[in-house]
Parts: sequence; C-alpha cells; structure tokens
Amino acid sequence: MRIIRVAGYEEMSSRAADVIAAQLILDPRSVLGLATGTTPVGAYRLLVEKNRRGEIDFSQVRTYNLDEYRGLSHDDSQSYHYFMADNLFKHVNIDMANTHVPDGSDPDAESACRAYDAMVEEAGYPDLQLLGIGNNGHIGFNEPAEGFPVGTHCVDLTPSTIQANSRLFDDPDDVPRQAYTMGVGTIMKSRRVLVLASGAAKADAVRAMCYGPVVPSCPASALQLHPDCIVIADEAALARCPEE
Ligand code: PGA
Repeated sequence: MRIIRVAGYEEMSSRAADVIAAQLILDPRSVLGLATGTTPVGAYRLLVEKNRRGEIDFSQVRTYNLDEYRGLSHDDSQSYHYFMADNLFKHVNIDMANTHVPDGSDPDAESACRAYDAMVEEAGYPDLQLLGIGNNGHIGFNEPAEGFPVGTHCVDLTPSTIQANSRLFDDPDDVPRQAYTMGVGTIMKSRRVLVLASGAAKADAVRAMCYGPVVPSCPASALQLHPDCIVIADEAALARCPEE
C-alpha cells in the first residue's frame, strides 16, 4: 500500500483526479471502476474540467460502478446511477452505453448480481478502481462480515451505514436497507486500486485498513494484499496512523 498524505479534501481530490487522468492518457480505452459517495465528488468535478479543457478523453472509456441500492430504478434521484450521471457522466464525452451500474431495479438479486459479474469479467476487470471507505471499514457496500465476499451480491446494510447515508435522504426511513455490490474478490482483481479518505470520521477505518490485521470485520483491510493500492488521505483521516 502506498499512502499519500495530503492537507485536506481539495488536495486529495486534485491528486486523485491526476491519477485518474494519467490512467486515461496512458490508455484511452481504460476500464474504470467508479465509486459514489461524498468523497469522490471533488475528483469528478476536476475530471469534468480536464475533459472540458481537452486534457482527457472519455469517448472510449468503459466504467463499472461498485454498487447500487436495491429497489431503486436508474432514474430515481437517490440511485447511484443518477448520482453518476449528475456528477460525471453527463458532463464529459462518455458514451452512456459504456457506463454500467448494478441494476437495482431488478428484484431478482441472484440474476442481477450474476449479470453484473459477467459484464465486469467480460470487460477484463478495472484497470483502475476508485474507492471510498465507510466509517465501518466497508468498501463498496461490503460491510463487516464473517468472510470476504467474492463476487457481486446482495447485502443488508448495517445500521451505521444506513445512519451515515441518511444525510442524503429527506426522510431517514427512505434509506434503502439493501444494496447490490461488487465483492471484495472483484475489487482485488482490479489492476490498480485508488482509495480516497477525508475527515476525522474515517480515522479509525483508515487505521484498520492500513495497519490492522487483514480481517473481514474490516473489509478494506484486504487491500493490504493488493499489489498496487494507492491511498490518498488527508491529515484528519490519517490522524490515528503513524506518520511515515
Ligand atoms: P462517503 O462514503 O464518501 O460518502 O463518505 C464512502 C463509503 O461509504 O464508501
């Protein structure tokens, strides 16, 4: 794991956008694994600016998002599909047919998850997988569990994740209780992983990810075993980690 310590959210976003831009410049046909949440929004804004300035081209890029709430259709404003269009896809020259998010509107979890695994496998897995980290150490919606899930699966969100995500909903009761998420095994197959973390609320999770034992009670700890994992985190998120 390579840890890059930055001052705050803006610098984290700018360093992350540079890593993603470099990937697209080196390989304009890259497969990107993308994440939702508050953390990557700043990096997406900077990627939009780079695209507008002609520095990066999304026309041949394919994207695969980590997860989606179960029960929300693509056009639901709380869906991750909608989030991606709003924060990135509709502002860059990507072909929407090349963007993929698990189909939360498919009530058949088994078939939705198998279909998504097949698509990600056919794409050859991400060249670069972007990740946030949950306060409880989750990546995607792989919540603390008894084992590391391999493929895409349906998860029951933990009370702490429902609570953390309720800030984005008018009524906390509206937060979906389940989601479809890529497994830790799929994330580990990406050629490079880029984890972003900002703020004191992430400090325990970042310490467990980087310095704790590799255990499924902290799904992000599996990334210690990834051969090319970059963590860009700010001072607040790294407050409980040793200064290297
Ligand atoms: P956040 O979520 O970016 O909104 O903090 C991260 C995550 O839960 O993976």
